[in-house]
Amino acid sequence: MSGSRDWSRYYAAARNEPREALLYALQRFDQEEVCDPFAVDLGCGTGQDTAELLRRGWKVLAIDGQAAAIERLHERPDLPGTAAERLQTQISTFEQAEWPEADLVNSSFALPFCRPAAFPAVWQRIERSLHPGGRFSGQLFGDRDGWSGEQDMTFHTRTQVEALLASLEVEQLEEVEEDGTTAIGRHKHWHLFHIIARKPHSEGRRLGQGINLGRMNAGSVALIPECAESQSERERLKPRAGPLSSGPAPPLPGPLDPRSSRPPNSPR
Ligand SMILES: C[S@@+](CC[C@H](N)C(=O)[O-])C[C@H]1O[C@@H](n2cnc3c(N)ncnc32)[C@H](O)[C@@H]1O
Repeated sequence: MSGSRDWSRYYAAARNEPREALLYALQRFDQEEVCDPFAVDLGCGTGQDTAELLRRGWKVLAIDGQAAAIERLHERPDLPGTAAERLQTQISTFEQAEWPEADLVNSSFALPFCRPAAFPAVWQRIERSLHPGGRFSGQLFGDRDGWSGEQDMTFHTRTQVEALLASLEVEQLEEVEEDGTTAIGRHKHWHLFHIIARKPHSEGRRLGQGINLGRMNAGSVALIPECAESQSERERLKPRAGPLSSGPAPPLPGPLDPRSSRPPNSPR
């Protein structure tokens, strides 16, 4: 499906600033001192979110169905000098993409372009790939979105979004509906959900579980005990009774309101 759309004008107009939902998710990770953090950027486009993650020291697997997107990502002038060691890329559809367990799966303005028939399996894959305590950040489009007639895209009602998030701790769920423009300046009615959700820690999780040693080098393995013994890591690894038992995390300052910044940036 990714191949049936022409993304070239979108890539040419793509912004350089990372998405707000990603920044809010990263603020939350900043409070937790995650060891050797690893993120998947699904539908990375030209890579403004990937670049931000790399600048903050994350390892990133950036996935997109378009080779042109991945090429533009590699050519970005704002990648840190150490990017080559921490960036992997994959040209693949959402349906066929493969990725290891991750602390964060970020998918900014991309999952709605998944075919409806493929979406449930892709979402399940995202959920399963999150470490306990890991997060999803990104957007889904609502059923009143101006593009909701597109048969090869996926739209959700609020009830459906809430059902998708039922097994996660919802940290932000902001519904936005407004008239605006697309990245290339066309008028559009936007109906979307900004989402940050966290996979709960499973009952009885033990220190070190969920850390995929296979993706770490010898140096980072040596860092695990020191990092895992910090106060915040003990807090992070503490078993919890259930996803809703501790209530939602306190909101971060300010809503994810595109009206307070730039309009959502999307093709066409
Ligand atoms: C609107 S752009 C968003 C790009 C970037 N994440 C951003 O925030 O600007 C959507 C991206 O998803 C990719 N995409 C769309 N459908 C896809 C699919 N089925 N599999 C893989 N990538 C897909 C497109 O190639 C495009 O780069």
